[in-house]
Amino acid sequence: MEFYDLIAQRESIRDYDPDRKVAPDVLHRILEAGRLAPSAVNFQPWQFWVISSAEMLDKVRRCYSRSWFHDAPHILAVVGDLSQAWVRKYDGYNSLETDLAIAMCHLILAAENEGVATCWIAAFQPDLLKDALGLKENERVYAITPLGYPKKGLTKKNAKQRKPLAEIVRFI
Ligand SMILES: Cc1cc2nc3c(=O)[nH]c(=O)nc-3n(C[C@H](O)[C@H](O)[C@H](O)COP(=O)(O)O)c2cc1C
Repeated sequence: MEFYDLIAQRESIRDYDPDRKVAPDVLHRILEAGRLAPSAVNFQPWQFWVISSAEMLDKVRRCYSRSWFHDAPHILAVVGDLSQAWVRKYDGYNSLETDLAIAMCHLILAAENEGVATCWIAAFQPDLLKDALGLKENERVYAITPLGYPKKGLTKKNAKQRKPLAEIVRFI
């Protein structure tokens, strides 16, 4: 799909068909787009965890109690390691959250290109997610997304509520 059309068309989907899984080759292409994301000093401090087993889905779903989230056949968690990310020497800024956000953007846009629906989720309960995934001390998750297909009959809103450019751009 043309890149600007893709950007305009993508929207968060909150209605998933529980019976329609994403095929392995489609998943592979989406994950490959995440793998190619840029990161500070190219440290790539991430792992992409695709949760599809009934046991793990059950655990992870408890971290975010929306019913639509429980319908998605897969959940993708971008997991990062603070000790693997670049740290700015002047003030100790750690780039992990930025690196993971960029990777998630790649993943979400690639999913859109494959016709796979996503919804960036940050409002999960972090402690529950940490336990569910068995994260180590240095590991962090800032965002997860369902991966799947919208329920039949769901029509996209295609009406982006965004501030106009005139309000947000400065040419200086
Ligand atoms: C950092 C971040 C956190 C978000 N957290 C949630 C969330 O917890 N639950 C949710 O339903 N949507 C969440 N969203 C999705 C936004 O609500 C959505 O992207 C925004 O309203 C714009 O709509 P669109 O994605 O359909 O263009 C999040 C998005 C971002 C970028």
